[in-house]
Amino acid sequence: MISFQYSHLRSVTDADVQAYRDRLAQADTAIREKTGAGNDFLGWVDLPVAYDREEFARIRAAAEKIRRESDVLLVIGIGGSYLGARAVIEFLQGAYYNGKRKNTPDIYFIGNSFNGEELKNVLELCDGRDVSVNVISKSGTTTESAIAFRIVREYLSKRYTPEQMASRIYATTDKSRGALRKLAETEGYETFVIPDDVGGRFSVLTPVGLLPIACAGIDVAALLEGAAAEREALFAAGLDNDAYRYAVLRNLMLERGKKVEVFASYDPSFRFLGEWYKQLFGESEGKDKKGLFPASVVYSSDLHSLGQFVQDGSPILFETVCTLAHPASRDMNVPYEEQNADGLNYLAGEAMYRVNKKAMLGTLLAHEQGGTETLLIRYGAKDARTLGELLYFLELACAASGYLLGVNPFNQPGVEAYKKNMFALLGKPGYEEQRASLEEQLKTVQ
Ligand code: PA5
Repeated sequence: MISFQYSHLRSVTDADVQAYRDRLAQADTAIREKTGAGNDFLGWVDLPVAYDREEFARIRAAAEKIRRESDVLLVIGIGGSYLGARAVIEFLQGAYYNGKRKNTPDIYFIGNSFNGEELKNVLELCDGRDVSVNVISKSGTTTESAIAFRIVREYLSKRYTPEQMASRIYATTDKSRGALRKLAETEGYETFVIPDDVGGRFSVLTPVGLLPIACAGIDVAALLEGAAAEREALFAAGLDNDAYRYAVLRNLMLERGKKVEVFASYDPSFRFLGEWYKQLFGESEGKDKKGLFPASVVYSSDLHSLGQFVQDGSPILFETVCTLAHPASRDMNVPYEEQNADGLNYLAGEAMYRVNKKAMLGTLLAHEQGGTETLLIRYGAKDARTLGELLYFLELACAASGYLLGVNPFNQPGVEAYKKNMFALLGKPGYEEQRASLEEQLKTVQ
């Protein structure tokens, strides 16, 4: 189970936490009984125990086929349609996983920007290699991924027959709506369904995350088991569970004038979990002019960049450090060297894990002295099951935190604003009226 510690949050008392009890009870009811705002997007709550077993078996079979037939898997998707899968794969296999694994395709995530250069670079890596594609979009209409998918289809059509191409493309989308669903049916792609009641940022344990994760050779059953175990333990603990405690403390920090939560790890392979966390909390809470800005850092690397600000800059932030509770299973020791020219012999024989831990503890105290308080989330191991626990812990904390804040944690109305302007500026049919006015406003910019 995920453990949570807040003894270093010195500005908060037990009485402060207790004062949230009634509001927390309401948030808990809203989540468990599905009575709050956005209640039609609470499918993720029971997902680890109520997922579609038949579809799960198809995911595993498709992953085996992809692994057998492909040197490269292209995963096309943006936001919630790629961050979870990338976070899980990088966390469990490291950022340099491509080329490292036997009998497993290299995996590239594309369609998450409008950058043609990146796409070109990735397609060059595909030349001469067998390629499969998992295109992921709940709406089936997201422009970044749709453009990338069109370019990839054109690329594949030069290398494969239409039948071969169709058997190499897997579409994860809505069960009936959207352009991608139609295209998949017309072309005969195998499809996987994103449940109606699960929003993008909560979809890592649906086929959105599970197919690419299974293609990387990760035990997806263990991931779901971990999430199920965490779900059971958290709900069994009632209002005193640690995910809710974390949610309350985030809201208390906001009340005390903090504007930013820095989600920190001391493991470089955590980087995309930080990206996933930012979307989860940022899109769930940043609305109605409310919410903490979610930032993420990887220490000790970022202690050499943002560390200065965290220690000594504007007092607008607190930190949540997410860390491994036990020694790492894969590690290296500092070697002994006779001449000791670098003066490191005082560390000879020391495991890097211990050095890292001392860096973490030293930083915690230093930041505390500088006025930056810290929360601690600890996970027990670096494996699929434990990661399932962590993902569920953070999802539940996020939902409760959003309800305590008084927002609908499951919508994202703000995401539409840029799209409308972009469509108008690109001349999309139906946006003609806005175009002239936007171009007028941009006269001095272009
Ligand atoms: O969380 C969300 O809803 C968003 O980040 C979406 O996942 C993202 O915009 C991609 O949408 P879609 O899956 O419809 O292509």
